[in-house]
Amino acid sequence: TYEKVWLIGSMVLIVGFIVTVTYGAVGLGIAMVDDSEETIEPTELDEDERFAEPRVEQVGEDEYEAYVVAQTFMFSPDPIEIPAGSEVTFHATSRDVIHSFSVAGTNINTMVIPGEVATMTAEFDEPGEYGVVCNEYCGSGHHNMEGELHVV
Ligand code: CUA
Repeated sequence: TYEKVWLIGSMVLIVGFIVTVTYGAVGLGIAMVDDSEETIEPTELDEDERFAEPRVEQVGEDEYEAYVVAQTFMFSPDPIEIPAGSEVTFHATSRDVIHSFSVAGTNINTMVIPGEVATMTAEFDEPGEYGVVCNEYCGSGHHNMEGELHVV
């Protein structure tokens, strides 16, 4: 009958819709993983040569790599010390939950997700002191989660 045709037809539409939405979400998830250059499990941080000792490392004349670990409710290293006139590539990851690594007064502001390494490069021309803050609610100590970045 026509009723059955309509019923089956609409069910096919609904299933098709669900498949489309699911496929879209999975596709996005895969794309985000691909966009992330590096991944690391929080349990592996202590054995990882980059993050076992969070630090700023000189890699060129005026080039530095900074390895930053966020965890409830602090950043390491703290303070982050950077020479003025340098270009710094930050690699930030989390030891536990989602935080952010945000340097007040700059455009450095990234989510820090456990299992992923967020990477961004910034130039620091002038000496100065900046606050490092967490912009993602991460628990009872979120509001006190802060550090410092010194350009010296
Ligand atoms: Cu860490 Cu909010």
